[in-house]
Amino acid sequence: STAPVETRLLGPDADGLAAAAALLRAGRLVAFPTETVYGLGADAGDPAAVARIFAAKARPRFNPLIAHLPDTEAARAEGMFDAAAQTLAAAFWPGPLTLVVPAHPGTRVCDLARAGLPSVALRVPAHPLARDLLAAVGRPVAAPSANRSGRVSPTRADHVLDDLAGRIAAVLDGGDTQVGVESTVVACLGGPPRLLRPGGITRAALRAVLGTDPVDANASDAERPAGPGLLASHYAPRARVRLDAERIAPGEAVLLFGAARPPGLEGARAVRDLSPAGDPAEAAARLFGALRDLDATGAETIAVVPIPDDGLGEAIRDRLARAAAPR
Ligand code: TXA
Ligand code: MG
Repeated sequence: STAPVETRLLGPDADGLAAAAALLRAGRLVAFPTETVYGLGADAGDPAAVARIFAAKARPRFNPLIAHLPDTEAARAEGMFDAAAQTLAAAFWPGPLTLVVPAHPGTRVCDLARAGLPSVALRVPAHPLARDLLAAVGRPVAAPSANRSGRVSPTRADHVLDDLAGRIAAVLDGGDTQVGVESTVVACLGGPPRLLRPGGITRAALRAVLGTDPVDANASDAERPAGPGLLASHYAPRARVRLDAERIAPGEAVLLFGAARPPGLEGARAVRDLSPAGDPAEAAARLFGALRDLDATGAETIAVVPIPDDGLGEAIRDRLARAAAPR
């Protein structure tokens, strides 16, 4: 299943959508934009198609996939929603939230997509192209981020091609994604909702809707990773990543945020400013593209100035911490 294929670049029009839907229904792999990052889609009910995702990404099979649906009604056919899950779905779908719930006995999402778990991860994306595509396919679409396993998630079609050209049937080109970091993952499996991955929906927004803080999965379960896929080292550029840099060494690549101008900046090899105004939403939208650009300069180290963890800053810091983790 890793024999080279010609990867088609499909435009965001009726023809492109129809071609993408037909390929997915035929068991092929199609990358498509969501408001967070590009996903690598396959028919979630077809184990052979889902197996192609794991092969194309070189993703370990113990790491389950998110099933994408066009609306909440379709999602409720795949999982069992407790009161908290219903509240969260009503508040944030369509949008950058993934709910992990007990799988519905009649779910079409296959065992391989769920990595054999009794739960299922469900998401209703807000991107209009994603919603049109999902409606046209008429089946749950399994879609991890459309990058090689362990690498930086793609926020543009050419990022997808850099990682997966020759390994997937097509990319539906929707331009830059808006949010830039992946969905927030919340588990509603009985008991209080647990935050498995910070992402496009902030902790403050969850708290406002739930009336309490979501439980941190790591806090209740320190020995195990929160989600099967939440390995420490992830989102890794080739370069080493150095966090909370107070000064810059000669030749380092630099990620700036806000007003900080650390000493030594004039000797940097390359600089990307995530948000001159210090806006975490703007910074999230630029984060993965900036990491890819700085990595392409060949710098040995990417130094990152301190980024506060309010709002989307929590998801940004989470991704950068994984990028900086030892590998
Ligand atoms: O924004 C996003 O969520 C993007 C777009 C394409 O929708 N998708 C994405 O998928 O980020 P992926 O595969 O890169 O991340 C999915 C995360 C992984 O950490 C995985 O372990 C977790 O969700 N997950 C999936 N099913 C799960 C389950 N049943 N229980 C716990 N965690 C689960
Ligand atoms: Mg991913």
